[in-house]
Amino acid sequence: MAKILVTGGAGFIGFHLTKALLARGDEVVSIDNLNDYYDPQLKLDRLKALGLQTPSPLMGEGWGEGENSTLNTKNLTFQKLDLADRQGIETLFKQNQFDIVVNLGAQAGVRYSIENPHAYVDSNLVGFVNILEGCRHSKVKHLVYASSSSVYGMNIKQPFSTEDRVDYPISLYAATKKSNELMAHTYSHLYGIPTTGLRFFTVYGLFGRPDMAYFSFTKKILAGETIDVFNNGEMQRDFTYIGDIVEGITRVMQNAPSPLMGEGRGEGELSNTKKITNAAAPYKIYNIGNNQPVTLRRFITAIETATGQKAKENLLPMQPGDVPITYADVDELIADTGFKPATSIEEGIGKFVEWYKGYYN
Ligand SMILES: NC(=O)c1ccc[n+]([C@@H]2O[C@H](COP(=O)([O-])OP(=O)(O)OC[C@H]3O[C@@H](n4cnc5c(N)ncnc54)[C@H](O)[C@@H]3O)[C@@H](O)[C@H]2O)c1
Repeated sequence: MAKILVTGGAGFIGFHLTKALLARGDEVVSIDNLNDYYDPQLKLDRLKALGLQTPSPLMGEGWGEGENSTLNTKNLTFQKLDLADRQGIETLFKQNQFDIVVNLGAQAGVRYSIENPHAYVDSNLVGFVNILEGCRHSKVKHLVYASSSSVYGMNIKQPFSTEDRVDYPISLYAATKKSNELMAHTYSHLYGIPTTGLRFFTVYGLFGRPDMAYFSFTKKILAGETIDVFNNGEMQRDFTYIGDIVEGITRVMQNAPSPLMGEGRGEGELSNTKKITNAAAPYKIYNIGNNQPVTLRRFITAIETATGQKAKENLLPMQPGDVPITYADVDELIADTGFKPATSIEEGIGKFVEWYKGYYN
């Protein structure tokens, strides 16, 4: 049994991870600022699904401005706390000795970074430094944090490998995620903190995010409304089912990197990183994706099949910041953890639509 801090614990991935950690007997401290980037009721419902009695913000009970409320159930403590609250995060680390920290709290979304860039700086940069500092001053054995496939930008080579250069982000969101990897490397090198960055590829599933296409398409298709289809449905995404993501995270959590591991692909083999730096950082980056890109067209068909309804489409050009394809090379994940995500889009969307219908009645 380990004591684990999960940030963004009321978020989509944080909720599912917390559930899995509790099921295997770990003690979890979960924090989230419960912001309204998307419907906060869904975040509260995720907490309820973990057995917590949440106050209703709609009724004005508890959790007012500046209030850091704490909720408890067996082996789980939830605290409403902002990653950018330097004092609050310092206190959290002083009051708890965490074995592992999983940083999933962030301002997510590519398109929103055009509208509200400062939210990304506050949560993803300031917030991440606060977490790194917390890990530095306590004896955390492993920091696992969310990066993103968006760091690959418009990478020409496919599939995307962690050995590819990722110096050309095309959204501020991607730039903050790449910055997280750079900051983590520095802390791994200077303070010997083992850190692992996970580049997630379009994660979907039950209790998912309303700002993502699978969610809004399902909602609109069921309501008989028209969906906006960018780039004529020709974009491809390496959709990854939430169950596979959680399995990947939990396996990686047990596998803290050592300075000697580097980023190579096998014993005796010099990785690109080791060829260009003498830094001895216990640092690692993995892709977690399905290794099987799906066209937007096939994805829409999967939703049509699961809902039993035909989509009405409004064809539009590509959006700024969007990339035509994401495609994960997961060889290193398989080599180090023995795991490869494999849920098909049809199976995963089927489960999502079933949940969606039940949740929204
Ligand atoms: N879902 C995906 O497809 C995907 C893909 C790539 C990377 N990621 C990354 O994975 C992580 C989890 O994503 P998700 O899909 O669960 O998103 P999510 O938005 O559902 O979860 C993030 C949670 O973090 C919380 N949060 C945001 N800013 C915060 C702050 N300053 N302080 C405290 N809490 C804060 C939010 O309230 C939210 O509940 C994020 O870092 C995201 O960037 C997700």
